[in-house]
Amino acid sequence: MTILDGKKTSNDIKEEIAAKVSKMKERGEKVPHLAAIIVGSDGASMTYVNSKVQACKKVGFESSLYRLSSTVSELELLAKIQELNENDDIDGFIVQLPLPPQIDTQKVLNAVDPEKDVDGFHPTNFGKMALDMTSFIPATPFGILELLERYDIPTKGKHTVVIGRSYIVGRPMSILMGRSGFPGNSTVTLTHEFTKNITQIISQADIVIIAVGIPNFLKVEMIKDDAVIIDVGITRVPDEKAEKGYVIKGDVDFENVSKRASFITPVPGGVGPMTVSMLLKNTLLARENHRR
Ligand code: GUN
Repeated sequence: MTILDGKKTSNDIKEEIAAKVSKMKERGEKVPHLAAIIVGSDGASMTYVNSKVQACKKVGFESSLYRLSSTVSELELLAKIQELNENDDIDGFIVQLPLPPQIDTQKVLNAVDPEKDVDGFHPTNFGKMALDMTSFIPATPFGILELLERYDIPTKGKHTVVIGRSYIVGRPMSILMGRSGFPGNSTVTLTHEFTKNITQIISQADIVIIAVGIPNFLKVEMIKDDAVIIDVGITRVPDEKAEKGYVIKGDVDFENVSKRASFITPVPGGVGPMTVSMLLKNTLLARENHRR
């Protein structure tokens, strides 16, 4: 059994990006600039956004953080997006999700200039991804592909079962694993809350990618011997003994599942850190394409 070390891989990628940024600086070129909009002060969202800003500093990118009140109107948020679309200094930006209920998330994502949409959530980029055209691939699925590639895990002809159909993880992952090339060429089953016989389907999986946000959902008796297990869950479970008052739990019963799997991602330290590095990679790409 091999643990897929997302933290180390993520650091390797950051070093590769930092080396490219140094060269850009040597040539007197502008370095990539990532901006993030966060609405409200949800603890988990703040942590994620702060780690994205920190990562920018680490690789030598510029970054800007725009904090809007949880009571902001949709119109005000759309105006901020328009401002960032038009700001030529910014190469890419993200709107951290989830957004408060008064805001139509899809309307907001549709307002982002696709050329600056480093999260890959705009319909243009999502469509391009499905059509095998060059695009910004959403950071978490992109990070999973990168882990599969760097650990040289075979995917061709394998049965990949994706659990959860969110627009951020499950849906794009199901498209990407079925595309041609490596990692891809998989036979994909996308499962969700209404899937019948889900345990039977999971038992046939060579690769399981789970993103449901339910701690310990995937149990050892559900998987087949030597399955590859990718755990995208990050749930804060209250724990008085923990320093922060909570512990982070994945969707997989790691202790037992790891005994039967061939490769497995830990939580924390698996997919999570990869997301941040792949966002940086998309921002570098946005900078390289941004020659207006
Ligand atoms: N919320 C959870 N994951 C993500 C992500 O990858 N991007 C953004 N913008 N929000 C998120």
